[in-house]
Amino acid sequence: MKIIILQNIFKFEKTKSINTSEYQIKTITSTKTYTVRHSVLRTGKPIETCIFDGDNLETTIHLGLFIEYKLVGICSFFKNSNPNISEANQYQLRGMAILKPFQGKGLGNVILKQGENLLKEKKVKTLWCNAREVAINFYKKNNYQVTGNAFNIKNIGIHYTMLKTL
Ligand SMILES: CC(C)(COP(=O)(O)OP(=O)(O)OC[C@H]1O[C@@H](n2cnc3c(N)ncnc32)[C@H](O)[C@@H]1OP(=O)(O)O)[C@@H](O)C(=O)NCCC(=O)NCCS
Repeated sequence: MKIIILQNIFKFEKTKSINTSEYQIKTITSTKTYTVRHSVLRTGKPIETCIFDGDNLETTIHLGLFIEYKLVGICSFFKNSNPNISEANQYQLRGMAILKPFQGKGLGNVILKQGENLLKEKKVKTLWCNAREVAINFYKKNNYQVTGNAFNIKNIGIHYTMLKTL
């Protein structure tokens, strides 16, 4: 059974795009996000760096994308207000990550969309994030706009605040 699952996962790593029937997106606990956060966003850093402020608040939502029971993508939504955004009902997207072999297959798009739809149901009006320079085009393709100037996040690099009206 384990061998078949591993063979299937390998097959998905090689394919260009993955169909809706081949993955599952569901809410997960914050601790479940750590493996992917660590591998993609905090590579080589202590595992404690994967714990984000507010991870366990009731208002925080963590989504996981699974293929063959393997968690390959994550994103989290925090009820955080950005002082430069006037909208009262806003959320922050953090920890957006897809495991390297699964990147570029449309999975980032689908997990983010699912999160946006969940927030829309909760009447959230604006979703914002501090985007790494390398991810700006991903967010632009998902209709996020840059607001304000670039800034540095210590030990991680240059970021831009980006936002989307849901
Ligand atoms: C950024 C990330 C989450 C995108 O997920 P993904 O599954 O690779 O992206 P998708 O395949 O869904 O791509 C969606 C669109 O964005 C584009 N895109 C994705 N990543 C991109 C990148 N790094 N630079 C430029 N464009 C990118 C794709 O070309 C695609 O465009 P299309 O819909 O016109 O084909 C993923 O690549 C990742 O985990 N990267 C490393 C961690 C990271 O930078 N996270 C963001 C922190 S702010």
